[in-house]
Amino acid sequence: MRSTDQPKTYRVKSFGCQMNVYDGERMAELLGAQGMTATSEGDEADLVVLNTCHIREKATEKVYSDIGRLRREDGSSPLIAVAGCVAQAEGEEIMARAPSVKVVVGPQAYHRLPDMVAEAAAGRRATETDMPAEAKFAALPRRRKSGPSAFLTIQEGCDKFCTYCVVPYTRGAELSRPFADLVDEAKMLVEGGAREITLLGQNVNAWRGEDARGRSAGLAGLAEALAEIPELRRIRYTTSHPADMDDALIEAHGTNAKLMPFLHLPVQAGSDRVLKAMNRSHTAESYLKLLDRIRAARPDIALSGDFIVGFPGETDAEFEDTLRLIDAVGYAQAFSFKYSARPGTPAATMDGQVAPQVMDERLQRLQAALNRDQLAFNRASVGKTCDVLVERKGRHPGQWLGKSPWLQSVHFTGEVAIGDLVRVELVEAGPNSLSGVMVRALAGA
Ligand code: 5AD
Ligand code: SF4
Repeated sequence: MRSTDQPKTYRVKSFGCQMNVYDGERMAELLGAQGMTATSEGDEADLVVLNTCHIREKATEKVYSDIGRLRREDGSSPLIAVAGCVAQAEGEEIMARAPSVKVVVGPQAYHRLPDMVAEAAAGRRATETDMPAEAKFAALPRRRKSGPSAFLTIQEGCDKFCTYCVVPYTRGAELSRPFADLVDEAKMLVEGGAREITLLGQNVNAWRGEDARGRSAGLAGLAEALAEIPELRRIRYTTSHPADMDDALIEAHGTNAKLMPFLHLPVQAGSDRVLKAMNRSHTAESYLKLLDRIRAARPDIALSGDFIVGFPGETDAEFEDTLRLIDAVGYAQAFSFKYSARPGTPAATMDGQVAPQVMDERLQRLQAALNRDQLAFNRASVGKTCDVLVERKGRHPGQWLGKSPWLQSVHFTGEVAIGDLVRVELVEAGPNSLSGVMVRALAGA
């Protein structure tokens, strides 16, 4: 592509969290609205958007190696735009270090992507990392098509300032999107084919707004309003902070039939000293008590979490506290990470940075415990009959893949279509999926 050509084809590559997946979809819609078409797998695009993640070190390094890999044999490159949290945090450095990058756009400014691409195509490199996000959502096009399971960002940013985390700096302060906009967008997604919506936010359960009658509402109120959309069958949300699990939301897990029995509620560590140093506003005990209340409202709820091993100063005994907490909870699944010092965060300069081999060993032990519990959870589901939302074809002829209410992948065979909600008996469990036998299709699914 010559520098004055406007790109005709694009590819958006998203890394990191589900909020980036959502942002990536919205960027694709923006570029589509300009008449650009997405390239198919393997084809070269005129414009490549790298929608980046800054949460851990490796993620940042990956951006630079990806930029390098986009170079063609003749030394030229497609028009490269770096979006997402690395763009926000290190935009200037990227521009200086990678001349082939022509656009740097932060997560709150990507509604300007088409203009910036046009500028770059005309030969002027463009950077935009303004916050906050109010203008962005208003400027995005209407949503038209959706898969059976859709993401909807309802809240962005974080005010919690956990001492290891860059999110409050890259995504900015907590901002809730307005109730009416969210109900509208959910309806559009459902009209476009969505049967399940996962509400997204860095602290999704800190969402607050005013409902249709002008009353103050939290996430429970929003989920209640969304449950009134008839063709919407399932509602999920992620990621939650324990401090924002209010009574109404806990109760909603027992009363809102469309709210799925799955909760991603990161605890990060099991030692109270470490939790305090992390600036988490809970202790191991208060977290466990909270889970008791949630389980009282919804006994079959599947729990998920995030863990960090090797936070500065973490001793062997403190790490054992985390293993004990895992034993006490019995997670259905969880994510675990080695602590990664992020520039500008308080933890990065704390004493007692843990040696890499110690982190490796702790991570292995932690993941062994989590894998054990995940398999146990899946095995305990065998014999249950549940609804499965059909998401895609499986690897074998006639096989389909979908999700149980507890977010387990389930494969089965039968005459169904993508987007159907079917009744399946779970008959066999592996560590990452279950196989089932279809019982009967649900009426009206
Ligand atoms: N190092 C390792 N893990 C981190 N996370 C956030 N920041 C860091 C960091 N500096 C993890 C937390 C969070 C998840 C999204 O990523 O567990 O919940
Ligand atoms: Fe980061 Fe903590 Fe905010 Fe989660 S709650 S985004 S870990 S600062």
